[in-house]
Amino acid sequence: MPDADKIFNAKNNLIFPGFIDVHTHMRDSTLEYKENFVTGTSAAVAGGFTTILDMPNTVPPITSVKELIHRKHTAKNTILCNMGFYCSPLSGKDIKELINEGAIGFKIYLHKPFEDQDLSNNNIMEIMLEIKKNNSILCVHAEDYSFSGNSESTSSNKAEVLAINKIINLVKQINCKIHFAHISTHEGLEIIKKHKNVLNISCEATPHHALLDKNDASDNFGYCEPKLKDKTDRESILKGIIDGSIDIVATDHAPHTIAEKKNLKKPGFPGLETT
Ligand code: DOR
Ligand code: ZN
Repeated sequence: MPDADKIFNAKNNLIFPGFIDVHTHMRDSTLEYKENFVTGTSAAVAGGFTTILDMPNTVPPITSVKELIHRKHTAKNTILCNMGFYCSPLSGKDIKELINEGAIGFKIYLHKPFEDQDLSNNNIMEIMLEIKKNNSILCVHAEDYSFSGNSESTSSNKAEVLAINKIINLVKQINCKIHFAHISTHEGLEIIKKHKNVLNISCEATPHHALLDKNDASDNFGYCEPKLKDKTDRESILKGIIDGSIDIVATDHAPHTIAEKKNLKKPGFPGLETT
């Protein structure tokens, strides 16, 4: 190493490289009343993050080159850390041009497809095929569609298991790179572990799914998707982070206003600054 210009004595503190958060929801634009790029990336830097990846469920969502360009343009000269942008493809045909415009990867929400987005197995396979061809990655919110609208079962253990199994069956045919977002159940993690050595899959977990369960935060303020599960799930997630079967800790930073949390039970909460 060359000599340093400046020497800083960190005493007994731990020193880390800048953190990377692969799962954040920066609000800005139409959702600026919750947070904007300045406040959101300030929270990132305060939490030790120097790079964050932004999820595409903005309003409108980042499903086209036009929206991706708009997002990048809004971020330019405003953000305080590095940022990469996920896109959500409507079909396989969108992949190449979104990559050319700088898409860092692709995300699908199995339980909540966007307008005009067909998440039938056939269309998902077409998307996977193009992602593989272009050496990109598909990040999956793994909660099964068949439960959406049914508040009893939405975000249940079963919804996660069904969705992971469905994606694994498709990956067995296509073998594109898959990243499972915010794994929250013991069973879900077990299935991923079983297939990790043969398939090109990785997964992440959030601090809240590793440290809290449904008994810790059962009110609207503790509601997130996937929701907080049982103590046994929480213990498996924490164990998975420690033993390395969970590849990444990601915050799923998703702020809302207090009124939205209280009255509308909006899912998610901030995570960047508190991680
Ligand atoms: O808790 C969540 N909040 N889960 C999601 O999938 C979306 C996110 C948000 O954007 O509010
Ligand atoms: Zn998220």
